[in-house]
Amino acid sequence: MTTRVYVLNGPNLGRLGTREPAVYGAVTFARLAEDCVEHGQRLGLDVVVRQTDAEHEMLAWLHAAAEEQAPVVLNPGAWTHYNYAVRDACAMLRAPLVEVHISNVHTREQFRHHSVISAVAAGVICGLGIDGYRLALDHLARRSAGGSGGGGAGGAGERHRDR
Ligand code: DQA
Repeated sequence: MTTRVYVLNGPNLGRLGTREPAVYGAVTFARLAEDCVEHGQRLGLDVVVRQTDAEHEMLAWLHAAAEEQAPVVLNPGAWTHYNYAVRDACAMLRAPLVEVHISNVHTREQFRHHSVISAVAAGVICGLGIDGYRLALDHLARRSAGGSGGGGAGGAGERHRDR
């Protein structure tokens, strides 16, 4: 049975390719989505990629992933830094969450240094460009096959959910 994984992207990420290419690269969102699906196929994952600029839509996708107990790769975009509703929805997930950022947020403006999501994620990948998505999928594939969970008991996300 293939594991369904959701790769969810928040505001402005649909503009990849034209949005600040010096920061986010030249690859379009459509190309990134294809890349994630193809990489998932190689790993035996059924990858569904989505992007929205609307908070309610992201919350609905996270609720559905929680219901399905599906792992999630999430690039929350600017919501990373202040959106408690997205964080609360992430806290409801019942499978691992990997937070991904294309840019290295820690070398950028101060407001990007804090994530309200990271405390409920199993792990965070940032600054490796779009490779971060592939690395997140690699990790989830290994985990779903019963391999390395990373972070001992399964990472901060699972510790949080155990509380
Ligand atoms: C981002 C970093 C965020 O600070 C920013 O608001 C984004 C993209 C990244 O992928 O590097 O929209 O999440």
